[in-house]
Amino acid sequence: MRLPENKRNVPSLFTCLDGTQVTTAKEWQEKRRPEILEMLRREEYGRLPDMSDVKVEMRVVAERQGGPMLDPRELRKTVEVEAVRKDRHFIFCFEVFIPRNAGKPVPAFIEICNRGTMLCDPAREHPSQFYPVEAIIERGYACAAFRTQEVAPDYEEGFHTGFHRLFPEYTQNRPDDAWGTISAWAWAASRVMDYFETDPMIDDKHVAVVGHSRGGKTALWCGAQDERIALAVSSCSGNSGDAISRGKSGESIRQILTRFPFWFAKNYQKHADHEEEMPFDQHMLVAMMAPRLVYSSTRSLDAWADPESEFESLVQASPVYELFGKEGLESWDMPYAEVPLHKGSIGFHKHSGEHDMEDYDWHRYMDFADRHWK
Ligand code: GCU
Repeated sequence: MRLPENKRNVPSLFTCLDGTQVTTAKEWQEKRRPEILEMLRREEYGRLPDMSDVKVEMRVVAERQGGPMLDPRELRKTVEVEAVRKDRHFIFCFEVFIPRNAGKPVPAFIEICNRGTMLCDPAREHPSQFYPVEAIIERGYACAAFRTQEVAPDYEEGFHTGFHRLFPEYTQNRPDDAWGTISAWAWAASRVMDYFETDPMIDDKHVAVVGHSRGGKTALWCGAQDERIALAVSSCSGNSGDAISRGKSGESIRQILTRFPFWFAKNYQKHADHEEEMPFDQHMLVAMMAPRLVYSSTRSLDAWADPESEFESLVQASPVYELFGKEGLESWDMPYAEVPLHKGSIGFHKHSGEHDMEDYDWHRYMDFADRHWK
């Protein structure tokens, strides 16, 4: 196996906690992968509570095609997810858009929408590049977006609204490894996946989860935990997303925790300013996708996310794919802007400009999916 130079001194993907070395896909899957996942869960994003007494129901509450509001080529279904525990419940909705005349189940994208409703407008009165439904349908994919704010608030409120309200016993007494908001959002993305498994118009073996920035951190964490996800796409997810924390410029763990402590487990606090000693780093999050597909996009001017550190985690994660006889990233040298790397199972592009996700990025995600799925 070819190993990249370890410039940032990140912990090895292949050395288990007991010191043994992983040399086969089987050892990776059965031993090293679970211990890394557990570490990320306990130390960074937090563990969801026991959900065995939570009843989750899903229903299609509306279905519409054509008419004045919709593109005649698409069908729109509104799905309501209701989670009930004891006498408490909470609901969130998402809209699924499906090409009408595909004649066979179609692959699909789940968008984690962390921006206002206007940017993922279910009525499509405000088409947006952040969630270009019309282009996605045109290229033969279905898509669904949920709004993160409907699932768990994106501000410090003490964990008692949205998803969190199902678990009042955790409000006062939060264990250090209890879930943060990113874990709640990732849980919601997996519920969209549950729905896709029930819809005969969707090819549920080819589902991608996509998110930008905090949504990108969530997309990677969702894909790490939910092995039904065939492709995880991160746009500019930076710190605690696709960027190596050791030696990172731009945002640090200390800075992200100062503004957004509620995104993470309390345990993550102890790693602020101690990146060098962490038993994990973000290349491990990327590696959780192997042998499935993963894609990361960045922006040339996104110094806060730090493109170099984002690319470095893809390079460091690459060798895991070799255990499965696959290629990770096709080149370990950062390409120029607008030169996508699509050949390997880890895809990448850098687009010129500031922190954002637009048509250019979406078309590259779909090019990558076309290439590997069609
Ligand atoms: C802030 C935060 C980043 C995050 C970004 C976003 O800038 O510091 O970590 O990625 O918001 O979600 O847009």
